[in-house]
Amino acid sequence: MAQRTNGNGAAAGLDGRTAVVTGAASGIGRALAQRLAAHGSPVAICDWNEEGLEETAAAISGPVFARKLDVSDRQAQLQFAAAVQEWAPRPIGLVVNNAGVTVSQTASEAAVEDDEWVMNVNFWGVVHGTRAFLPIFLKQRSGVVANVSSVFGLMGFPTQSAYCASKFAVRGYTESLRHELKGSGVRATTIHPGGIRTNIVRNARFHVDDRGGTDHAAMAAEFAKIARTSPEKAAKTIHVGIEKGKDRILIGPDATAISLLTRSVPVHYFDVVERLMGAVRR
Ligand SMILES: NC(=O)c1ccc[n+]([C@@H]2O[C@H](COP(=O)([O-])OP(=O)(O)OC[C@H]3O[C@@H](n4cnc5c(N)ncnc54)[C@H](O)[C@@H]3O)[C@@H](O)[C@H]2O)c1
Repeated sequence: MAQRTNGNGAAAGLDGRTAVVTGAASGIGRALAQRLAAHGSPVAICDWNEEGLEETAAAISGPVFARKLDVSDRQAQLQFAAAVQEWAPRPIGLVVNNAGVTVSQTASEAAVEDDEWVMNVNFWGVVHGTRAFLPIFLKQRSGVVANVSSVFGLMGFPTQSAYCASKFAVRGYTESLRHELKGSGVRATTIHPGGIRTNIVRNARFHVDDRGGTDHAAMAAEFAKIARTSPEKAAKTIHVGIEKGKDRILIGPDATAISLLTRSVPVHYFDVVERLMGAVRR
């Protein structure tokens, strides 16, 4: 895969340190890798989608290291971290464990293989990525581990039980890590995007949607309508949030509203969500 080390780019924000982004072949990961590179960071990117990864790398003019890997493969993540460390023209300052997938199915009908796939990518992929880079950060007494959860790490949603479970798990894991890291010089940040216009629904394993519909293309079209935030705006919010040292980064007005709602009506928030979604769909 592509490797360039031309050392371009003024130090800015991350002070020009190397940034690592998983799931960078598409959506938020791609936009974030491109933004961080444009702001002067060498970027190391990975994804299982080699073609998409090549496209992301080709659009980056600074130093870039790209590797095809499955984030749920622990050994592959350890090897990736070692290779990034060897390649990095500047110290590694950030890892964003972003790769994610979903399945749309009721909890009662869900296939165990689908639920395991979601947990393996979304939760174990984050854990493996964290554990691969954390020793490097602890040794240098600096660095940010930024793990992508979701608004579905703040609330449950019908037909998203595995996804919600994985995203609540990312949140619990990352918040625990954050408390452990106090005084270490290393930070852990949880990212909760609202609806972002990416390929997440198109790439989903689909069985049924929350209204009983069985048309994957219709669900993807509806998601594209409801998701208000672009991947570029999401990348900007993540970048600015990390620069500001935020512990929790909410992306989009929907994420802000859901965060407020689930804190105000912690048990019965879904009554409100259902009414709002009905209005948006109409
Ligand atoms: N789009 C949204 O509305 C939204 C909302 C909340 C959270 N998120 C989260 O944001 C993150 C990025 O998703 P996105 O919306 O950009 O979707 P996307 O489908 O456009 O991008 C996800 C990327 O992850 C990669 N990926 C999937 N499985 C992988 C694996 N096993 N190993 C390596 N790479 C893998 C895909 O190939 C893809 O390039 C995900 O964790 C997702 O759950 C998205």
